[in-house]
Amino acid sequence: MAVSCSFLALSFFFFLFTLSPLPVSATDHIVGANRGWNPGINYTLWANNHTIYVGDYISFRYQKNQYNVFLVNQTGYDNCTLDSAVGNWSSGKDFILFNKSMRYYFICGNGQCNNGMKVSVFVHPLPSPPPSSSQHNHSSPNSAAPMVLEYLGHKFLMLSFVFVMFGYVLV
Ligand SMILES: *[C@@H]1O[C@H](CO)[C@@H](O)[C@H](O)[C@H]1NC(C)=O
Ligand SMILES: *[C@@H]1O[C@H](CO)[C@@H](O)[C@H](O)[C@H]1NC(C)=O
Ligand SMILES: *[C@@H]1O[C@H](CO)[C@@H](O)[C@H](O)[C@H]1NC(C)=O
Ligand SMILES: *[C@@H]1O[C@H](CO)[C@@H](O)[C@H](O)[C@H]1NC(C)=O
Ligand SMILES: *[C@@H]1O[C@H](CO)[C@@H](O)[C@H](O)[C@H]1NC(C)=O
Ligand SMILES: *[C@@H]1O[C@H](CO)[C@@H](O)[C@H](O)[C@H]1NC(C)=O
Ligand SMILES: *[C@@H]1O[C@H](CO)[C@@H](O)[C@H](O)[C@H]1NC(C)=O
Repeated sequence: MAVSCSFLALSFFFFLFTLSPLPVSATDHIVGANRGWNPGINYTLWANNHTIYVGDYISFRYQKNQYNVFLVNQTGYDNCTLDSAVGNWSSGKDFILFNKSMRYYFICGNGQCNNGMKVSVFVHPLPSPPPSSSQHNHSSPNSAAPMVLEYLGHKFLMLSFVFVMFGYVLV
C-alpha cells in the first residue's frame, strides 16, 4: 500500500516535471486581447501589434453559439464570403496552431464579418538564431525560461523524493 502510494506521488511529480515546460515554448495570442472575438473591433490594429511565429497559437474567445470562426482565402476575407473556407471552429474558445509560414485569413461566418469580425495574420518562419529584440543583443529572455523551469522541476523532484521517503518511513 505504502509503496504504491509513493509510486503514485512520484509519478505525479514526474508528470509535473515533464509537462511543465510545454506551455512556455509556444505563445498563445488571444485575438482582440481582453475584448475577444466580437463585432466593432478593428482587428487590423490587434494584428499589427503581434508578431506570430510558426508553432504559435492564436485563440478566439467568444460567446459560444453566437459567433464562430472560418479560415478562408483573401477573397473570402475581402468580401466576407465562405466559399473558400478550409476550416471552421465554434467552441467559443478555439485554439489554432500555425504549422506553416504564410498569411492566414479568418472571418466570422454568421454575418458579423461586415461588422469587423475578420482578421488576417502573417505567420513568420522560425528564425534560426533567436531574434534579438531591437535593444537587447545577447541572450533572449525566451531561452532562459525553460532552464528556470527545468531547475524548478529538479527541485520539485528532490522535494517529492524527501516527502515520499518521509511518508514511507512514517507508515
Ligand atoms: C483599422 O485600422 C487600420 C489601421 O489603422 C485602418 O487602415 C483600417 O481602415 C481600419 N479598419 C476599419 C474597418 O476601420
Ligand atoms: C499593443 O501591445 C502592447 C503590449 O502587449 C499593449 O500594451 C498595447 O495596449 C497594445 N496596443 C494595441 C493598440 O493593441
Ligand atoms: C469581391 O468583391 C468585389 C467588390 O467588392 C468584387 O469586384 C469581386 O467580384 C468580389 N469577388 C468575389 C469572388 O465575389
Ligand atoms: C478563394 O477561393 C475562391 C473559391 O474557391 C476562389 O474563387 C478564389 O479565386 C480564391 N481567391 C484567392 C485569392 O485565392
Ligand atoms: C465545418 O467543418 C466541418 C469539419 O470540421 C465540416 O464538416 C463542415 O461542413 C464545416 N462547415 C461549414 C459551414 O463549412
Ligand atoms: C496544423 O497541423 C495540424 C496537424 O497536422 C492540423 O490539424 C492543423 O489544422 C494545422 N493548422 C493549420 C492552421 O492548418
Ligand atoms: C550587437 O552587439 C554588437 C557589439 O556587441 C554591435 O556591434 C551590434 O550593432 C549589436 N547589434 C544590434 C542589433 O544591436
